[in-house]
Amino acid sequence: MTRHSRIMGCGAYLPERVLTNSDLAKTLDTSDEWIVARTGIEHRHIAAEGETTADLATHAATAALRNAGVDIKDIDLIVLATATPDFTFPSTATQVQERLGMTWGAAFDVQAVCSGFIFALATADNFIRAGQAKAALVIGAETFSRILDWSDRRTCVLFGDGAGAVVLQAGEGAPGPEKPGIISTHLHSDGRYRDLLYVDGGPSATQTVGHLRMSGREVFRHAVVNLADVVHEALGANGLKPDDIDWIVPHQANKRILTSTAKKLDLPIERVVVTVEKHANTSAASIPLALAEAAEDGRIQPGHLLLLEAMGGGFTWGAALIRW
Ligand code: ACO
Repeated sequence: MTRHSRIMGCGAYLPERVLTNSDLAKTLDTSDEWIVARTGIEHRHIAAEGETTADLATHAATAALRNAGVDIKDIDLIVLATATPDFTFPSTATQVQERLGMTWGAAFDVQAVCSGFIFALATADNFIRAGQAKAALVIGAETFSRILDWSDRRTCVLFGDGAGAVVLQAGEGAPGPEKPGIISTHLHSDGRYRDLLYVDGGPSATQTVGHLRMSGREVFRHAVVNLADVVHEALGANGLKPDDIDWIVPHQANKRILTSTAKKLDLPIERVVVTVEKHANTSAASIPLALAEAAEDGRIQPGHLLLLEAMGGGFTWGAALIRW
């Protein structure tokens, strides 16, 4: 019997402290006007001192379980996407597992930076399809504020902290117009572009945590091309066309990337879930943050066709096609 996985619920968490563009302009040669015009970002949330990625992730996971009406006893897999783990090891996933009181099943991290949530979702979906898991928590959680160079205006204004999560459960058969579920996932990476977006530290190379470095223009150019390509790939694999999509739920990097990608697909921006203005780029957390908001406020309705897409350091990029 064919199996598929279905999203049963989602949850989100943003740290309490809000840092506005004007706050940044007090210590940095930047302005609210520049940041809004170039990125669409109005403010970001910053984790409190001592508040870690695992803390954010646990809040989001708890909210997702509640929203799904699923008990932790029924979860047998946690896949957590992060580029900002609490420690080099153990994984942040196992810390969340412990906090949720889960002493069975498996928990591990995946690292694909801003594409992390798509990679984690694809991993959990494939575990469920293969019959190796019955129900999974898929989490994207980041504290990018800890790896930013706060004196570099070209990067530090772009990112924020946050977490989002979904609960997946196995279902029989294949998803269809009347049957919600993950239809397909599509993953890519190309290590040749490492130097365009990277962190200049790590346990093996430098024994430091390092800071994020980016060639913004180059990343922008690759992002628009790769994202449009992977959306076409996901649609083509399922005999669908852009107009069939009810909602694009993209990685929230920059409003101009979202607008340019929608334009390349000939889709109106009104069909793109945009939340970047409220939390900036939260890397692996941004898709589940956007998903939770649009599901909560009723934009996403049962039966809708969703296209999730992301691109990040590596480069990595990917998409997931979902019937809600
Ligand atoms: N405030 C004021 N001025 C700034 C700032 C700032 N925060 N940052 C850069 N500038 C200045 C630059 O110094 C430069 O000045 P100069 O001409 O005197 O040298 C000028 O603005 C133009 O700089 P560019 O880098 O060419 O600006 P651009 O229009 O490309 O916008 C941006 C920069 C917003 C980073 C853009 O390239 C971008 O969005 N890139 C995508 C990067 C991204 O989103 N990465 C996230 C991770 S990957 C992903 O998630 C897809």
